[in-house]
Amino acid sequence: MAKEPVRVLVTGAAGQIGYALVPMVARGIMLGPDQPVILHMLDIPPAAEALNGVKMELVDAAFPLLKGVVATTDVVEACTGVNIAVMVGGFPRKEGMERKDVMSKNVSIYKSQASALEKHAAANCKVLVVANPANTNALILKEFAPSIPEKNITCLTRLDHNRALGQISERLNVQVSDVKNVIIWGNHSSTQYPDVCHATVKTPSGEKPARELVANDEWVNGEFISTVQQRGAAIIKARKLSSALSAASSACDHIRDWVLGTPEGTWVSMGVYSDGSYNVPAGLIYSFPVTCRNGEWTIVQGLSIDAFSRKKLDLTAEELTDEKALAYSCLS
Ligand code: NAD
Ligand code: LMR
Repeated sequence: MAKEPVRVLVTGAAGQIGYALVPMVARGIMLGPDQPVILHMLDIPPAAEALNGVKMELVDAAFPLLKGVVATTDVVEACTGVNIAVMVGGFPRKEGMERKDVMSKNVSIYKSQASALEKHAAANCKVLVVANPANTNALILKEFAPSIPEKNITCLTRLDHNRALGQISERLNVQVSDVKNVIIWGNHSSTQYPDVCHATVKTPSGEKPARELVANDEWVNGEFISTVQQRGAAIIKARKLSSALSAASSACDHIRDWVLGTPEGTWVSMGVYSDGSYNVPAGLIYSFPVTCRNGEWTIVQGLSIDAFSRKKLDLTAEELTDEKALAYSCLS
């Protein structure tokens, strides 16, 4: 029997990530090839005509899984009955801007959209915040939507996770699908800590530690980390626009694994509400290694953290603590 359609909200749907993301959702890349979807697309009035153009293209593409499209500038209409909310709408960082510069523009958007989701989304709606500052926007959304379970509010660091896999795969000249269990700790910013201490690579003679295969601590502790940390800025420099196809693809990966589960023996990185694991302050949205089962994520426990890593975990936590204070000062 055919499945009931899932309603997926994409905010900022007329923007460049939105334009890359909605066809992926409509093709089943996010929720699977047998899962019908109804797309809810929200943007602001100046983008209404462009949003309508995206709707026309979705109709023209005749996606078999797409059972309906709501394209609106009304946040209540957009949020009503949605099962999954991918929050992309906001003001993007432009070349030369720091993420903090976009803070005040974005936290007020997330405060008001929190209320609309809380009142109108389906029970148990899963929320993924993509718009920057992603962790702090997600935290604001959580704090201003107190009836949404905190486990349902997450932010995107899967793009950083995928970037880390990509860098290891290029360095070792192996398939990216043979690399797993990198970790992104902390903030989706240049203080994030891309960690390969527990990553492995599938080789003809079995799974091997990525660190052992790279055999170059200077690269692992230096260039690798800074390349992943700075990749967003490098894309902006090259494209004069922030990453879009990779962000959209990673957003699909994030939701797919959350809903359908992570493969056995594999974890992924998600920005989730900290419960104090790994001595990360509770009450931040912080990127951890997680596994997912039955639509729920669980932080991977018991990984060893060496002194080098400890410093990096703490540094990015400090930045998030500062961002939280700054966000509240922007709202007051
Ligand atoms: P964009 O400017 O092309 O699109 C943003 C869209 O949001 C626009 O269409 C704009 O009209 C709309 N918008 C603005 N305010 C809105 C509101 N209140 N409600 C609904 N829509 C609204 O930007 P983009 O390149 O698509 O990037 C979107 C966001 O994603 C940015 O904040 C960017 O920094 C962030 N980003 C995050 C990651 C990540 O990995 N977390 C990666 C790439 C980009
Ligand atoms: C990215 O990681 O590509 C983006 O978050 C960069 C940005 O600041 O928009």
